Amino acid sequence: MIALKHIKKTFTVNKHTVTALDDVSLTIHKGEIFGIIGRSGAGKSTLIRMINLLERPTSGQVEIEGQDVTKLGKKELSKLRHRIGMIFQHYNLLKTATVEENVAIPLRLEGLDKGTIQKRVDKYLEIVGLSEHRKHYPEQLSGGQKQRVAIARALAHEPDILLSDEATSALDPETTESILDLLLEINRELGLTIFLITHEMEVIERICDRVAVIDGGKIVEEGDVLDVFADPLHATTQKFLKTNLDVPDEVVKELSTHGTLVHLSFIGSQTEQAVLAQLTKKFGLLPNIIGGGIKKLKRGLVGNLLIHLDGDVDQTDQAVRYLEASGVKVKEVTNHATVLGRLG
Ligand SMILES: Nc1ncnc2c1ncn2[C@@H]1O[C@H](COP(=O)(O)OP(=O)(O)OP(=O)(O)O)[C@@H](O)[C@H]1O
Ligand SMILES: [Mg+2]
Repeated sequence: MIALKHIKKTFTVNKHTVTALDDVSLTIHKGEIFGIIGRSGAGKSTLIRMINLLERPTSGQVEIEGQDVTKLGKKELSKLRHRIGMIFQHYNLLKTATVEENVAIPLRLEGLDKGTIQKRVDKYLEIVGLSEHRKHYPEQLSGGQKQRVAIARALAHEPDILLSDEATSALDPETTESILDLLLEINRELGLTIFLITHEMEVIERICDRVAVIDGGKIVEEGDVLDVFADPLHATTQKFLKTNLDVPDEVVKELSTHGTLVHLSFIGSQTEQAVLAQLTKKFGLLPNIIGGGIKKLKRGLVGNLLIHLDGDVDQTDQAVRYLEASGVKVKEVTNHATVLGRLG
């Protein structure tokens, strides 16, 4: 388990102080995939670098398995870093070394014997699907293959924790998918805890169990991915999710001038219920579907639907109450700025 407790980090550049992290507390459980999402400059990289102490907190504690790692000596810290692998957006491979050498060199530096190194290189290149490219140089590989080498290199130390700083940000959608599948596989097969940061909601959707949203150095929302997707509370989270409901501003504005525009979210088996048909049957309303879709998250399905109800206020109120009683999350939309704003 990783526990960050009241982490504060400030940088001073030319007598000017920047607060990169402001009282961040988080717990990451063993074996889970935990994602942090946030805009550029929100403090994501600074946060992830606290875990292996590439960056030291100005105040607060970083605990791994109950041990405050900020208090470790040099030798213990180096040992700790072997238990924590890390991958980056730009791979950080040695250009002048082959694929297998890129994996083997750090193991030599760790002081492992030849036989063990050979076994690990074979094993982890096999896991990432690059055994046939072992004699190639990084420049002969695609971006996705380079990231696979970086993953093999991180795994070869047989760490308990893998940190990922935007590992898929430089990759096209298809390659991103294959790298995310690989991360899921190593999480499942090797039981590795994965802590990742990203600015792409897709990464959170596909592989994370839990998510925290960071904004201006503060954690503004945190929870199971399914819950956060079904009911995002903070404006920043809503912004990240809004693109999921691809309805132009103009349409929303126009429709909000008459009747009621409501956003519905459904979890799991609710996504299969025909609740809209019931609105017609029970309340004589004719809901007009404006947009929507179903997202497949790691932990299950979340459906989102934007509908327009053109009935009188009483009818609409009854309909909303009925939907809520059926377990559907309902939010009224007044204009695009509050697409996911709470029902007043
Ligand atoms: N070494 C440093 N010296 C001074 N300021 C820094 C340093 N590292 C980060 N910062 C500042 O801390 C804040 C958070 O930076 P950080 O790199 O953690 O953001 P990020 O969320 O990873 O952004 P991006 O998505 O662009 O990578 C920014 O204002 C940044 O300028
Ligand atoms: Mg960053």
